[in-house]
Amino acid sequence: MEKIRIFDTTLRDGEQSPGCSMSIDEKLMMAKQLARLGVNTIEAGFANSSQGDFESVQMIGHEVEGPMIVSLARARKDDIDRAAEALRDAKNWGIHTFIASSPLHMKYKLNLEPDAVLKKAIQAVEHARQYTNNVEFSAEDATRSDPAFLVELFSAAVRAGATILNVPDTVGYTMPEEMHQLITRLKNEVYRADEIIFSVHCHNDLGMAVSNSLAALRAGARQVECTVNGIGERAGNAAMEEIVMALNTRQQLYNLDCDVTSEQLFPASRLLTKITGSVVQANKAIVGANAFAHEAGIHQDGVLKHALTYEIMTPQSVGIKTNNLVLGKHSGRHALSDRLETLGFHLEEEELNRVFVDFKRLADRKKEVFDEDLEALVSQGMRVSNDHYVLKSITVSSGTHMIPTATVVMEIDGEIKKEAGFGDGPVDAALNTIRDLTHFDCQLTAYSVKSITGGTDAQGQVSVTIEHNGRTTTGRGADTDIVVASALAFINGINRLSRMPHMHEKSSSKSFQGV
Ligand code: KIV
Ligand code: ZN
Repeated sequence: MEKIRIFDTTLRDGEQSPGCSMSIDEKLMMAKQLARLGVNTIEAGFANSSQGDFESVQMIGHEVEGPMIVSLARARKDDIDRAAEALRDAKNWGIHTFIASSPLHMKYKLNLEPDAVLKKAIQAVEHARQYTNNVEFSAEDATRSDPAFLVELFSAAVRAGATILNVPDTVGYTMPEEMHQLITRLKNEVYRADEIIFSVHCHNDLGMAVSNSLAALRAGARQVECTVNGIGERAGNAAMEEIVMALNTRQQLYNLDCDVTSEQLFPASRLLTKITGSVVQANKAIVGANAFAHEAGIHQDGVLKHALTYEIMTPQSVGIKTNNLVLGKHSGRHALSDRLETLGFHLEEEELNRVFVDFKRLADRKKEVFDEDLEALVSQGMRVSNDHYVLKSITVSSGTHMIPTATVVMEIDGEIKKEAGFGDGPVDAALNTIRDLTHFDCQLTAYSVKSITGGTDAQGQVSVTIEHNGRTTTGRGADTDIVVASALAFINGINRLSRMPHMHEKSSSKSFQGV
């Protein structure tokens, strides 16, 4: 069986999608899980887009072993220099440079003639090759480009030193048959095609990202670019878990293999959800809550008689644990750390100590602590450890004959601040007071609360979406008291907003203009 390469862009294309921004620590934690998964390449960010991206690319390059770490760079000297500066001390690294090749993009976005695009591509690849042998070149909007021009552009990139040629379906426009034809043609006509790796990068605007990626593989592409949970610009990118499991489950059809450990797919999906707060729909293939749930009587009966009647893969093969071990107030640190490892959280000593304290506090209030409770505890702590705004205490009074009132104490950039306020209900009072304390004049555009587990002592998980100056983010918080959970979710959203590059840096932008 031939091997294909998995190129993960969760931390770059994925992170560009609304509500999915991550702090440096969160990116590092996710990158370590990607390494555990066994992906071949991690696109850690776009080093020249902001100081934050530069630092996270640099840190991941230093600390994550195994996969090749790359940074995105437009076909510009400054982008390439910055990518190399971030990664030059890393063990295994590369540069991914790109320029748009479709008539629409060249004319309206770049304002360049095809000849000028060709020249810039050559200069970019040659410049990147001065730093590293691992240079990937992408022709943005390749699927809406003139295939003859693509052949010319890719051939020029190979002559300039590119080792991987990437074919992005940037706007998710193409169909599987067309993708198959395009890769076949490129493999036949590009200069020295047999010496380089063809890669594919598909967006999901028409729901075709995974199908198009698989069609490209059948035509001879040997690298797929994808993200965990399929997060990414607009409708997202091809979902890694779907590609990997399609190859595993239909091995006889594809005769292709990859290095990903499928049992790490579900832990990776859960970790990303916990970090970003961006949930996966219940019917999402492979990692959705219903992906392995059989509701219909006929199906349940069939599965009980023989699992293969309605199950094409097992939950265990993607890392879903079916034994939901319950912990309680007598459980020790060892049992906790064991369970956390099983759930995919590999915590350092200090972090484990903190979670243990929170766990004991929760176990005192709640008889049984379930996996979902533990996940909420860890992700909440992960956020708080690098936050500007931290909730210290909150007291809310409300009832049938009084105006709901909240008193909130917060630590803001190391300083303790206190405020009292009113609202239409206890949650409104809490959020108004937090708004006053933080001076974040943001709008709450969505609010939902659900119980993490069953029982009246269950933790409530609150998810909020907030908007500020045209930027949107999500926030999550969990507590046995839903007003406290609401305050935590709102503060989590504010922390995410405050970390967005535009809040601190004038010139940062992840848009691809100005190549
Ligand atoms: O979708 C796209 O075209 C991209 C490129 C930068 C590869 O993300
Ligand atoms: Zn993309």
